[in-house]
Amino acid sequence: MTLTTYSFALPTRIEFGPGISRTAAAEAKAMGASKVLLVADKGVLNAGLTIAIEEELKKEQLPYAIFDQIVPNPRDVDCAVGWEFAKKEGADVIIAVGGGSSMDTAKAIGVLLTHGGVIQDWCGFQLLQREITPLIAVPTTAGTGSEVTPFAVITDSQQHVKLNVFDPKAAPKVALVDPEMLLNLPSHIMASCGIDAMTHAVEAYTCKVASPHTDAYALYAIDIIAKNLVKAVKAPDLASCTGMMLGSTIAGIAFGFADVGAVHCMAEALGGRYDTPHGVANAVFLPTVIEFNAPADYQKHADVARYLGVDTSGMSVEEAALAAADALAKLCRDVDIPKFNELPGVDPADFEALSIAAEKNVSTPSNVREITAADFLQLFRKAYEL
Ligand SMILES: [Fe+2]
Repeated sequence: MTLTTYSFALPTRIEFGPGISRTAAAEAKAMGASKVLLVADKGVLNAGLTIAIEEELKKEQLPYAIFDQIVPNPRDVDCAVGWEFAKKEGADVIIAVGGGSSMDTAKAIGVLLTHGGVIQDWCGFQLLQREITPLIAVPTTAGTGSEVTPFAVITDSQQHVKLNVFDPKAAPKVALVDPEMLLNLPSHIMASCGIDAMTHAVEAYTCKVASPHTDAYALYAIDIIAKNLVKAVKAPDLASCTGMMLGSTIAGIAFGFADVGAVHCMAEALGGRYDTPHGVANAVFLPTVIEFNAPADYQKHADVARYLGVDTSGMSVEEAALAAADALAKLCRDVDIPKFNELPGVDPADFEALSIAAEKNVSTPSNVREITAADFLQLFRKAYEL
């Protein structure tokens, strides 16, 4: 094995277990909070997922204000509204309860509270000057991994592209990873988020900046998500929800400390233009991109197939690698992900613009196979024909 040097440090402490989300108030108190900003969307609030946390905040006599103006694919303007609210309330600790949109909005609010300006000022690699407002992340979906990643993905409302605050100073201080949060998640959200987590793991493992540490996390995540996703979608129980919560957090560590690749470049271009749910956008490109990428590293793609549960004995390494694409396509079908050409608003006339946006993505250089806008255009067209 030949390796260049790399470093690996997790800025987030992870507390895992059924019911662990109830410790959010105690964590906030230990951080010295005088007022908590509770960031949660209306769906999470209506589902009652913050009730136990709010009860504990009251018991701890910690005042809190709820910011619920969360939108999918959060935009710069949404982050600014949250910042104004947080300033008005005088919040000094943030608890985010939700999926990627809530956690990324909370990170952006924390960035703006400590740095000011507009969020675009801080989008880029390690531009922050100090730690953001302490953030406690409580994921309610198993997909984004945002509870352990050092970045926030924000849509530029003028340019319709996704930008990224990429800095360990923006990572949550604590992640309270509670599988009970998943028990009543709607099945289509479990499906799309679960495929997002799988995509994180597969792209982290195969991308150019993978390291032995991220490989270990990625392979574990591929295995545990493959074994639990269908059950968690079709008939969720604590065991399958535990598997998915572990899988998404561990996949989050893998890609947070490696990168993603061309699937996310295409998915983020799509989400920036049509507001397509992120997990669905990944799912519709995943098999096509894996087939394209496999020749750049047959061995690693063959490993992906094995960890997906494919019996690769008797296959050549090339055949095994391509079997990964088939297995991922089957997994997407098994959890009822729609096809690319069934998604609302998608117009093939936009594919050239989408290809240019995908090429500009910060993760394009990490893709295991060299990829240009012309390649992306072919992949958009190919995925649309499936
Ligand atoms: Fe993702």
